[in-house]
Amino acid sequence: MKRLLHVLSVACIAVAPMLLPATAAAQFAKPEDAVKYRQSVLTVMSNHFGRLAPVVRGQQPYDPAQVKADVALVATLSKLPWSAFGPGTEGGGARPAVWADNAKFKQGQERLHADIAKLVAAADAGDLAQVRTAYGAVGASCKACHDNFRNR
Ligand code: HEC
Repeated sequence: MKRLLHVLSVACIAVAPMLLPATAAAQFAKPEDAVKYRQSVLTVMSNHFGRLAPVVRGQQPYDPAQVKADVALVATLSKLPWSAFGPGTEGGGARPAVWADNAKFKQGQERLHADIAKLVAAADAGDLAQVRTAYGAVGASCKACHDNFRNR
């Protein structure tokens, strides 16, 4: 039995790379699952990004550790939604342009990642003025993509 399990696990390891999804859609059983996944991640990312708003507006005291924690979550979560926009997952609040002009949609993701990298650096430096500037740039990245690719 033990040997059989070993053989099976070796076989699985050997076969796994071939089973890697050819399209991102294959990561999800149904297209609706992909829509739900990306909307959920975007909602949680947005929540943590939104927690920075009162801080950068000076309505809440600047707690560098808290800002760092929220920014770290935004950075991590911002990597997740995009694989859930694979072929065959049209719908939700996404415009058809996501698939029709996918290169531009990808540029929007790259812009977001570049701006979030600056926000991470600012939060790490513990510099509120820098955090404020970087926060504004990230917000503009969100908006630019939504203007082109999200239904309102
Ligand atoms: C590269 C494009 C792009 C960028 C950048 C982007 N979004 Fe979005 N966002 C979308 C698209 C497309 C949808 C619609 C997804 C759907 O409903 O399937 C969406 C939906 C959302 C939603 C709604 C989720 C739901 O429950 O329906 C929120 C909230 C959101 N985005 C927040 C943000 C925030 C905050 C940022 C920046 C930190 C951001 N997004 C950056 C493309 C983007």
